Amino acid sequence: MGKKIAVINGPNLNLLGTREPEIYGSVSLEQIVKQLEKLASSHGYSIVHHQSNSEGELVDAIQKAGLECAGILINAGAYTHTSIALHDALRGVKKPAIEVHLSNVYRRESFRHHSYISPVAEGIVAGFGPHSYDLALQALLQILESKPKKG
Ligand code: DQA
Repeated sequence: MGKKIAVINGPNLNLLGTREPEIYGSVSLEQIVKQLEKLASSHGYSIVHHQSNSEGELVDAIQKAGLECAGILINAGAYTHTSIALHDALRGVKKPAIEVHLSNVYRRESFRHHSYISPVAEGIVAGFGPHSYDLALQALLQILESKPKKG
């Protein structure tokens, strides 16, 4: 049983590559996950990826990650700005989580300026397109690798 990192993507992120490419770029979610798998495996981790358009399924994915994974990367999409359920789920699992956004949400509409994820995240990476995910994974690996190992 190897060490795992959960990558959780919320609504509409399955459309990456074709959805508003001027904002989100032309790289698909599959390509992003492939890239993350490469980086993770060079550190001895595997990626467990889950994308859903449903809030409840995302809660389930966070709970599952809490049991199986060392840490979490989460782009909750629009639920970032609305979901107390995702906030509570992340608070409940007590695993380090990094909030990820392709776009710089603070440069966009004001309804994107509030996040229910940020108060329960170790940190936030936003605005670097698909590269946000790589940067977030690097940060998470650093956190995991600096933690004292449990016997
Ligand atoms: C997003 C930003 C959100 O505001 C938006 O609803 C998304 C994508 C991003 O990655 O930039 O779906 O999370």
